[in-house]
Amino acid sequence: METVVSGIRSTGHLHLGNYFGAIRNFLKMQHQHRCYFFIADYHSLTTHPKPGDLHRNVRQVLIEYLAAGIDPEVATLYIQSDVPEVAELYLLLNMNAYKGELERCTSFKEKVRRQPDNVNAGLLTYPVLMAADIIIHRASKVPVGKDQEQHLEMARTFANRFNRMYGVDYFPPPYAFNFESELVKIPGLDGSTKMGKSESEGNAIFLADEPGVIRKKVMRATTDSGPEVSGEEMSQAVENLFNLMRVVSSDDTVNHFLDAFNSATIRYGDMKKQLAEDMVSFTAPLRERIFELEANNDYLKKVARMGAEKARESARKTVGEVRGIIGFKPF
Ligand code: TRP
Repeated sequence: METVVSGIRSTGHLHLGNYFGAIRNFLKMQHQHRCYFFIADYHSLTTHPKPGDLHRNVRQVLIEYLAAGIDPEVATLYIQSDVPEVAELYLLLNMNAYKGELERCTSFKEKVRRQPDNVNAGLLTYPVLMAADIIIHRASKVPVGKDQEQHLEMARTFANRFNRMYGVDYFPPPYAFNFESELVKIPGLDGSTKMGKSESEGNAIFLADEPGVIRKKVMRATTDSGPEVSGEEMSQAVENLFNLMRVVSSDDTVNHFLDAFNSATIRYGDMKKQLAEDMVSFTAPLRERIFELEANNDYLKKVARMGAEKARESARKTVGEVRGIIGFKPF
């Protein structure tokens, strides 16, 4: 059994891309490994959320992960700021993180470009906090997408540097990890290749979307003018619709529309209607659980408490040992 850690951004609703890309893997992983999943609310402070929004976002993300099937009795599901030991480890790791390497980080350079008026130290040291999140549980496996590879490489650097500096073999270097298969990429409805990547409205289907909203978004999805003769090549937008269909519809349905495309008799309107209905059926139980959880504050409180307790137990042990290694001693 390996120790797995993953941080979840505390902004935005979950969409089908999140579900089929990452969450489905979390659901399988939680039964086979020691999993820590947390909502990264300290990280979200780099963009200065309003106090009211901060809590609302964290709560919504907690609800949607529970609705998607993360079992808080099996995995440790917690809120980062409930575990202040993370902040202490972050402080300690900061002493061995160098300005040059932090400034070279791609995500930092991107932020400098995107928010030039708010280049705060939290942004610069974001990879240090992320390293603290992971190694505080001495985890070796981190289920994240390709965009996080550089952050993970930095986490390995900080873990190895600590070991070398103090002549110990304490932190295992953490690596990216996909459960079973390569992560699937779920396309957007606007012809873009990744759901949630573009900001355009109607690009993503959210787990909490009402059936009417889902139907409207799917009917407006980008297509092309349709094949004129059989055997024509498929445009990216139409291929996207087929790929979406592959995750929510039956094989028979997919094959029916593929045949229709190949014989140039397809009517995209029919295909979209079917796709929308299959998305509605797939998301219906999730949406129902989201509604139930929204009204059940006692349960959410219980989950958050339980998660914090389990996470702190592991974090306290690590920070205590790290203090000892560094040379802090009680009188
Ligand atoms: N940086 C990650 C993201 O943007 C979120 C994150 C924060 C994270 N801390 C983490 C992911 C620790 C894995 C492990 O998605």
